[in-house]
Amino acid sequence: MKGSVSLINLCDIQHNPEIEMLMVKVHEYLGTMGAITHDEEHALYVARLGVHILGALGYPEREQRLAEIAGYLHDIGNVVNRHQHGLSGALLAFDLLKRLGMPAEEIATVISAIGNHEENSGYAVSNVAAAVILADKSNVHRSRVRKEDVATFSTHDRVNYAATTSFLQIDPDQREILMNLEIDSAIVSVFDYFEIFLSKMLLCRRAANFLQCRFGLIINGSHFL
Ligand SMILES: [Fe+2]
Ligand SMILES: [Fe+2]
Repeated sequence: MKGSVSLINLCDIQHNPEIEMLMVKVHEYLGTMGAITHDEEHALYVARLGVHILGALGYPEREQRLAEIAGYLHDIGNVVNRHQHGLSGALLAFDLLKRLGMPAEEIATVISAIGNHEENSGYAVSNVAAAVILADKSNVHRSRVRKEDVATFSTHDRVNYAATTSFLQIDPDQREILMNLEIDSAIVSVFDYFEIFLSKMLLCRRAANFLQCRFGLIINGSHFL
């Protein structure tokens, strides 16, 4: 990879007017279908947690920065369509990053992470991809639900609404990544959670394994994986 002078970092991405507009439109368009929030707050959550995961596990600084960029951009494909937004997002990011002057090897790392973050087709193909998967799937929280009428909630909304706490614990010595959730069982059962999130958790387990860690899931204090 090239020297630090030409390296592209998150601040270059955040202040790019095209990317700024696409991020705004992603949130706006998904709002029309009542989907949970995919705003800049979610993008920054995934970006920052991706950095934290790789940093805590001792991966190189530049990989952390690429996880930050991929995390920030991972949902940008929703501006095209919700379906297969990982793939469309990867192609959008390719063009944007190329024009910003990012080296091809780094572009490959970022777009493969974006293109592999969805549970139906994703795969932890690199440390950066694994970090983005884990960071994205752990952002389950009631603050992301946009609908106000509980009667209109999908199961996906209910699970997010029921989640009052969600965080990752990373133990570099034990090589363990634990996803901790507190779920209000008056809103959803643990069964509902698994109905919606099992495929996401299995992808997280593969991502943690790629990072040579064991993955654990703790819901309301009980271990499930
Ligand atoms: Fe996504
Ligand atoms: Fe996301």
